[in-house]
Amino acid sequence: MPSMDIRIVDHPLVAAKLTELRDERTGTITFRRLCDELVTLLAYEATRDMQVRAVGVITPVGPTDGVALSGPPPLVVPILRAGLGMLDGMLRLLPGADVGFLGMVRDEGTLIASTYADRIPADLREREVFLLDPMLATGGTLSTAISLLRERGAASITAVCLIAAPEGIAHLRSEIGSASTVTIVAAGLDERLNDVGYIVPGLGDAGDRLFGPA
Ligand code: URA
Repeated sequence: MPSMDIRIVDHPLVAAKLTELRDERTGTITFRRLCDELVTLLAYEATRDMQVRAVGVITPVGPTDGVALSGPPPLVVPILRAGLGMLDGMLRLLPGADVGFLGMVRDEGTLIASTYADRIPADLREREVFLLDPMLATGGTLSTAISLLRERGAASITAVCLIAAPEGIAHLRSEIGSASTVTIVAAGLDERLNDVGYIVPGLGDAGDRLFGPA
C-alpha cells in the first residue's frame, strides 16, 4: 500500500557533520561545505530504491553480471532558495540527473507556502523525483511541492532534508494520503517548532546561513 516512509539516517559521519552545521559559530564557508557533504551522504540513502536493470560487464579478468540505472533520468528539484545549497551534493551521486527548480516562499506570519517559480517538466510519468529542502518545519512547503509533482504524474518522490520537525512529518502524513509513495530522508529529527515556525534546536535560518540575509 502506498505510504510515507521516513528515514532518519543514523551514521556517525552524518551526526558529526550535522552537529558542526548546527553550531552558531559555523560561518558561511564551512556551512556550505558541510551542507554539501551531508547531502552526498543522505543521497546514498535517498537513492537506495532506484530502479536498475541487469547488464553484463567484462573485467580485465573475465565476464560478470552487473546493473545499470534504468528508466528515464531522475529529476532533482531544489526548492529555492535554501535547497540550492544542496544541489551539488546530490548531483555528485546522480551526475546524469535532470534538474528542475521550484521557487517557494513561506509567509512568516501565516507560515503558508506559495510558489513563485516553477521550472518543472509538465509530464513526470515514469520519473523518480528528488526534492531538496533543508528544513522540514511545518511541512507546508514540501506538501505543496509534493502535490505539484503528483499532479504531473511523478512515479516516486523522495524529499531530502537536513532536519525534520515532528509537526512537519505529522502534517505531511495527514496530507499524503494513499496516491503514491513518498519517502523523506533526513539527517536529524528534532524536538519541535517554536512559535515562529523555526525548528528547535534546528540550525536557524538555513537560507540565511547558506546565502546571507534575503
Ligand atoms: N526554515 C529554516 O531555515 N529554519 C527553520 O528552522 C525552519 C524553516
